[in-house]
Amino acid sequence: MEMSLATIIFTFMLCTIFIVPCSEAVEKGQGNGLHVGFYGLRCPNAEQIVADVVSKAVEADQKLPAAFIRLFSHDCFVKGCDASILLDTTPSHEPVEMQSPANFGIRGLEVIDEIKARLEAECPETVSCADILAFAAREAVVLSGLPRHKVPAGRRDSRTSRATDVTLPAPATPFDEIIDYFGRRGMSSDEMVVLSGAHSIGAAHCSFFDYRLYNYDQTQAQDPALDLFYAADLSQQCPAPNTLPEAEAKNRVVDFDPITPLFLDNQYYANLMQGKALLQSDQALVTDPRTSAMVMKMAASADSWTRRFVRAMIKMGRINVLTGEHGEIRKNCRAFNSL
Ligand code: HEM
Repeated sequence: MEMSLATIIFTFMLCTIFIVPCSEAVEKGQGNGLHVGFYGLRCPNAEQIVADVVSKAVEADQKLPAAFIRLFSHDCFVKGCDASILLDTTPSHEPVEMQSPANFGIRGLEVIDEIKARLEAECPETVSCADILAFAAREAVVLSGLPRHKVPAGRRDSRTSRATDVTLPAPATPFDEIIDYFGRRGMSSDEMVVLSGAHSIGAAHCSFFDYRLYNYDQTQAQDPALDLFYAADLSQQCPAPNTLPEAEAKNRVVDFDPITPLFLDNQYYANLMQGKALLQSDQALVTDPRTSAMVMKMAASADSWTRRFVRAMIKMGRINVLTGEHGEIRKNCRAFNSL
């Protein structure tokens, strides 16, 4: 009786003090074997080292937080959060995930290398690259204006990475398939709406959306869902294909959120409701009846979105993780350990 009372009080304190949802606190030490404070004894400064390196890098490039959040999501959605996205080569020598066109524009890898080098110097072969990606994404969230949250850790790194496994949705992927893609990874359509709010920071290359301006379908050159002023602005930033030198056209990017591009906030949802979504997949969230109510709800409450976003990031970070004796702790995030 005394024990269960203590447990209830402990759980209540966890739920009150941290943003971590109550179910998370109760699951501590379970749920795929991840838990908060995993490196507390093994490498007590691990999370601080990640925070230091990330914040220094962001001082030099204030757009980097978006890169870490995208990197983490592309790792987790493809075969789970196992740092497979970071491998340059694998024992099978097949083309790796990073070579997939869906990973075009991934940035921030040199910062992950720096974090790993610092951690190897402090605690050799202890902190996985998969956990580094999770901690770096958390720092990105904090540096973009959201409250600090606790990140369950204990992931291990894979020894495989195949470009053919990268089936990430593209902006023009049919919406049914996108919902299904998230669903197969345990994420609901509400959570998909919430996570898409990550597109309130960062930028996209023109090639991912310029067909909406110039070559939408057989009957219309421009996507009718686009606000006309917004479309005119985008056309300025991304001139029609073949009007710029190829190298320049390839590198052009446009911020997702023209209003608060450096803040993770629910402005993204207000933009969607006004036809100011950069990607077709973002616009679909508000036009499809399965998700439109959730978009309106998130636009209406910054607090609700913040809470749900943090919870969904933690849940995404649990997708198919390797724990215990599975996988390995890489010494270099770009290479598997030789046996
Ligand atoms: C429906 C699913 C999604 C699609 C089709 C999609 C597509 C894209 C595309 C095309 C870009 C631009 C990449 C570039 O040009 O460099 C991008 C960027 C980004 N995505 Fe997504 N995304 C999706 C879901 C997500 C999710 C779930 C997250 C995070 C939880 C996320 C976070 C980001 C971030 C932060 C960026 C900006 C990256 C940067 O500035 O370097 N995306 N996404």
